[in-house]
Amino acid sequence: MKLITSKIAILAIVASAAGPLLADESVRVRNCTWCHGISAQGFSTAPRLAGQRDEYTENQLLGFKEHIRDNPYSKQYMWGAAANLSPQTAHDLAVYFSTLPPEAANDGDRELLAAGRTIYEVGIPESNIVSCLVCHGPNAEGVREIPRLGGLSYSYLKRRLEQWGEGFHAAAEPMPRIASTLSPNEIEALASYLSFIEYASFE
Ligand code: HEC
Ligand code: HEC
Repeated sequence: MKLITSKIAILAIVASAAGPLLADESVRVRNCTWCHGISAQGFSTAPRLAGQRDEYTENQLLGFKEHIRDNPYSKQYMWGAAANLSPQTAHDLAVYFSTLPPEAANDGDRELLAAGRTIYEVGIPESNIVSCLVCHGPNAEGVREIPRLGGLSYSYLKRRLEQWGEGFHAAAEPMPRIASTLSPNEIEALASYLSFIEYASFE
């Protein structure tokens, strides 16, 4: 009984944070979470959406719809999923997913964590690799349209960083330029470090 009461309390909080979407449009949310996982924490090749910056998510949805984000899995899965989203629905879904507390994937290589952290925080000046922290924030929490990276899965982060170097999603300024300076080992270290970042203070 106690458990049920607290579940109802949690649902009430989520519903009030997300506005009317949960009640009226839970079907739309399920259209996304059957790939993106329970509570949108990510599943298989589909990344976590929970806790992502709403401006960033909204921009990506428009990017899929307009075929600007042309990565192989984007084409295969997201061009169809975003094709019929109105700008208002894209906005509402983005805001809704931003209110869900994110969990860290914790699936990188722990031995690379320290190396990844150093690159994230200070870059590698002698190789012209910039600090990621200056844009993505001290806890990789992102700001405005710059995404949260902390706790995304290792395989997703690695793929994104590799695919910019291969020419995909060329419009995602400034990332194509930044990612194409990274070596395979540096990408593995960064993706490992980021996968372990927990949200101590999710607001
Ligand atoms: C058939 C499976 C599938 C469905 C349904 C689906 N997605 Fe996706 N989504 C994916 C995959 C796979 C990716 C990774 C694309 C890539 O690697 O470029 C993705 C990527 C994304 C991204 C990019 C996230 C980031 O961090 O850049 C967003 C945003 C997104 N999806 C939102 C949604 C929303 C909102 C819905 C519901 C309207 C939805 N997805 C439905 C599979 C799916
Ligand atoms: C000058 C600011 C800036 C710097 C420095 C920067 N980024 Fe980004 N990053 C962005 C922006 C803006 C986006 C969103 C691009 C878009 O899709 O429009 C982004 C997107 C990303 C994404 C995609 C996240 C997702 O959910 O798909 C990853 C991964 C990423 N950056 C990693 C890094 C790493 C690693 C570094 C350091 C080597 C770095 N970034 C440095 C601004 C920056």
